[in-house]
Amino acid sequence: EKVVLAYSGGLDTTAIIPWLKENYDYEVICVCADVGQESELDGLEERAVLSGASKLYIENLTDEFAQEYIMPCVMADAVYENKYLLGTSMARPLIAKRLVEIAREEGAVAICHGATGKGNDQVRFELGIKALAPDIKIIAPWRCNDTWNMQSREDEIEYCKAHGIELPFSADSSYSRDRNLWHISHEGLELEDPSVEPNYDHLLMLGVSPENAPETAEYVTMDFENGFPVSVNGKKMSCADIIRELNRLGGKHGIGIIDIVENRVVGMKSRGVYETPGGTILMEAHMQLEELILDRDTFTVKKEIANKFANVVYEGKWFTPLREALQAFIESTQKNVTGEVRFKLYKGNIIKAGTSSPYSLYSESLASFTTGDLYDHHDAEGFINLFGLSSKVRAMKQAEAEKG
Ligand code: ARG
Ligand code: SIN
Repeated sequence: EKVVLAYSGGLDTTAIIPWLKENYDYEVICVCADVGQESELDGLEERAVLSGASKLYIENLTDEFAQEYIMPCVMADAVYENKYLLGTSMARPLIAKRLVEIAREEGAVAICHGATGKGNDQVRFELGIKALAPDIKIIAPWRCNDTWNMQSREDEIEYCKAHGIELPFSADSSYSRDRNLWHISHEGLELEDPSVEPNYDHLLMLGVSPENAPETAEYVTMDFENGFPVSVNGKKMSCADIIRELNRLGGKHGIGIIDIVENRVVGMKSRGVYETPGGTILMEAHMQLEELILDRDTFTVKKEIANKFANVVYEGKWFTPLREALQAFIESTQKNVTGEVRFKLYKGNIIKAGTSSPYSLYSESLASFTTGDLYDHHDAEGFINLFGLSSKVRAMKQAEAEKG
């Protein structure tokens, strides 16, 4: 019988290979999902096989990630707890989907992942797997208290050695990180104490802090069509390449670094630092354009949907009718989100420098202080009389009651 293992190539998931063989006697099929983490993929197959796996799939999912998972979140303007742009959350369902597909092709009976028992990722992987393959057994070694006895990197290295696997892993513990095309997350070490300032010099991987960013601002122009970004500085690019280019620009100017204490699904608060340089720019640019295009009522409802969508994604409920329905609403609001956005990047800030769209609802003659024929100032008086009527009545009644 076979098990499909979500394999990153790191020490944690490598140690799982001999552990699976020892405890289940399964044939281990490793799957490394490339969602833009830019890790060294060379030598990965050798490492997996040396550790006892029979096969390694390296799956390039980056474009699918950008188009089918990142973009719905961008179009939704989805932000979790006011700050977190959901980078890890949005990748997990895609990885789960590919694990299930390969499990089917291979005729595997189980899927294994290396997420801990304390986090969100276990929830996301497993809700995805359950929704797509309810019959497949899920194995989460970190929750197997009787058989998984490794608590540290030293333990894992020892365990591998005892199973004849010698690998060049270092025992030093670092931040717990998760990187993909959209972001990198950092948790652990000094970050576990929210009263401590993050050690940004050691931490940052995608760019510099605002203090170390250039003294001169840099202008960027972006074009959108139906909510999708299509070009940066006049150059047409795929969605994934746009995010890469914005990552470069944002990283250089210290954009998109957040430090948050967030509420995990499993009940605890946890502190993390996230770098989302390109994502922060893309979402800001998209919102800048929406300001011009969405009518007030749609904008109001969309803001609520954004919050709901963020929660659904954070909780790993991607493969659900609710996510599909929310996304359908969002997509329908994007029909006219077409136009050009210009802004400049300066020391962690994105500063607007002009927006235009053929579908703009902004009317200069209407907004301007000089009178036009579309808007008669006198109409406002009657409008305010009715709009404020309930306030006026309440104040009158209150005054009457006080008089007795
Ligand atoms: N706290 C973030 C989230 O729940 C990031 C999780 C990072 N995961 C990881 N395996 N390092 O989405
Ligand atoms: C983990 O616990 O595996 C990483 C953190 C998280 O899933 O929230």
